[in-house]
Amino acid sequence: MRILLTGGAGFIGRTWIRENIDKRDVDKIYIIDSLLPQVHTTQDFFMNNCEDSRIEFVHSSIQGLDKNRLIDILRDCDSVVHLASDTGVGQSMYELVRYTENNVVATAALLEAIPVAWDGNFLNKRLILSSSRAVYGEGAYFCDSCKGTVDNTDSKDKWDPICSTCGNWLRPIPTPVDTRTNASSIYASTKLSQEHMVQQISKALGIRYSILRFFNVFGPGQALGNPYTGIMTTFLLRAMQMKPLYVFEDGCQTRDFVFIDDVIAAITSALDCNVSGIYNIGTGIGISIQDMARLVSAEFDMGPDGVQITGRHRVGDIRHCTADITATTRDLNWYPQYTATAGMTKYIKWFKQQTVNVADDSEKAWQELVQRGLGKTML
Ligand SMILES: NC(=O)c1ccc[n+]([C@@H]2O[C@H](COP(=O)([O-])OP(=O)(O)OC[C@H]3O[C@@H](n4cnc5c(N)ncnc54)[C@H](O)[C@@H]3O)[C@@H](O)[C@H]2O)c1
Ligand SMILES: [Zn+2]
Repeated sequence: MRILLTGGAGFIGRTWIRENIDKRDVDKIYIIDSLLPQVHTTQDFFMNNCEDSRIEFVHSSIQGLDKNRLIDILRDCDSVVHLASDTGVGQSMYELVRYTENNVVATAALLEAIPVAWDGNFLNKRLILSSSRAVYGEGAYFCDSCKGTVDNTDSKDKWDPICSTCGNWLRPIPTPVDTRTNASSIYASTKLSQEHMVQQISKALGIRYSILRFFNVFGPGQALGNPYTGIMTTFLLRAMQMKPLYVFEDGCQTRDFVFIDDVIAAITSALDCNVSGIYNIGTGIGISIQDMARLVSAEFDMGPDGVQITGRHRVGDIRHCTADITATTRDLNWYPQYTATAGMTKYIKWFKQQTVNVADDSEKAWQELVQRGLGKTML
């Protein structure tokens, strides 16, 4: 296998490399990564790994890379896993140009180079895009009174979605992959653009593609110094310093936390899969942010005040969204091995073994949102 991982120095990319380089028949791995400073507070990965002659690291953004160099790299590869993206949902709402360049323009540059490099020879080629559950906006709900499914509703009573027909509470249900998309942040829009471009070019040329909509990925190796993503990491950094864990809204909002090992397995399954499609990568089970915070607080013996419900709300945040993985299990033969709590236990164990010397900047990230009217407190 000869493979290009864009964004391969990031959390998911470097974990995929570590897990697969010796297990699979890997001849060559190219990484194109701009090493965004907010993700890469240290460059330890390269110091430790880039001596492997099978790995060639290109320190550049995709969109900034010389076109001929990009084409040469692609010509030498049979698979592309496109992971490169800026990933801060809140931050994307005020750094629009940056998010559009790093996510949309970069994908355009990649897709412009692919047909030139592969020159009509698409038979054994594979293109995988890491997308996000963010493209749905709110997930799918069911109204028990109207007896019907409601896709990504915008009607809410303070926190919880209500049925726009009868006004009753809606019950969250797993979100199938064919649910109408409803991007509610610039980040989500850029991920949806990536999806559209990958589908349009792949279908036009006959390239096999997989679009993997990751839910909330977490686990060992996550960038600890990036305050713009990763609620679990924020909790751990604060718990380590015995600072209270601030939980947004009333704490009952749920997320589908999927463990990194399961995400790695999904990418590998997609590389081996012979059909094209869009797939949800999550556990299918939602867990409340409050419950996850309490789990962390208990692990660090933080006592009764360890978790504080703040009423804070980020504009554009959703209430519930969990993955319906029917299509994923059918086509990719993939099934998650970890529940959120089992994964979290492993993550905490790993975290406690790290020498953590990064500051917890989550309050700075919150204040940036407040200053721009994108963070509100509703008690
Ligand atoms: N981690 C999650 O919870 C999650 C959830 C849903 C989707 N995703 C998607 O998975 C992918 C990987 O996420 P991750 O958690 O590994 O993020 P990450 O931030 O750890 O890694 C992304 C990498 O891409 C690089 N990068 C960003 N823009 C680039 C560009 N234009 N050109 C070259 N390099 C660039 C960054 O330097 C970084 O190393 C992203 O596309 C993200 O949108 C992640
Ligand atoms: Zn109803």
